[in-house]
Amino acid sequence: MAKLAVFASGSGTNFQAIAEAAAPTRHSIACLVTDKKDAYALRRAEKLGIPSHIISYKGKSREQAEEEILAVLAPHKIDYIALAGFMRLLTPRLIDAYPSRIINIHPALLPKYPGTHGIRESYESGDRQLGITIHYVDYGLDSGPVILQQSFTRNGTESIAEIETRIHNLEHIWYPKVMLDLMDAVRQN
Ligand code: GAR
Repeated sequence: MAKLAVFASGSGTNFQAIAEAAAPTRHSIACLVTDKKDAYALRRAEKLGIPSHIISYKGKSREQAEEEILAVLAPHKIDYIALAGFMRLLTPRLIDAYPSRIINIHPALLPKYPGTHGIRESYESGDRQLGITIHYVDYGLDSGPVILQQSFTRNGTESIAEIETRIHNLEHIWYPKVMLDLMDAVRQN
C-alpha cells in the first residue's frame, strides 16, 4: 500500500478524481494540503473523510511555509505528492525532501504555456493541438521530466469553456491513472 498527499489551492476536482480512483485500491490519500483557507478542495476533503492541512504562506518566506508543510507531512509517511492546482512554486527544500516523488499536472502541452494561465494561453494561441501534461517536479516552473501528455484536436469553433471542459475531462481520466500506476510500483519494505 502506498500513501499519497495531494496539494491543491482551488476547486480540487483533480484531488477528488484521484481520491475516488484510489478508494477501491490498496492505496490511500493520506491528506490534502492547501495554502488557501477558503479552497473548495477543503470541502471535498471533508466529504471524502480525508484529513486536510491549511498552510498559509502569508507573511512567510516560501521556505518557512514549506518547513510547516514538511512538519505536517512527516507523520503521514507519504510515498508521493501530487500537485493538483497548487499555485505555488516549490523550493529545493521541499523538492529534495521527496526526490522524484512530486508530480504535477498542467493544463497545456508543456513546454508551451507554463504558469497559471495554461488554458487561456493555449486557447488564445490558435494551436490546433491542445492537451495536458503530467510531469515530475524540478526546480523550474512547470518543468521537469514528462511522464505523460494527452492531446486532442480542436476544430476552432469551441468556446473557451468547452476547451476547459475537454482539458479537465482529460485530467480527471489521466491524473488518477498515472498516480495509481506510480503507487503500484512502490516497493514495500
Ligand atoms: C487544473 O486544470 C490543473 O491542471 C491546473 O490547475 C487546475 C486545478 O483544477 N494547474 C496549473 O495550472 C499548474 N500550473 P482543480 O483544482 O479543479 O483540480
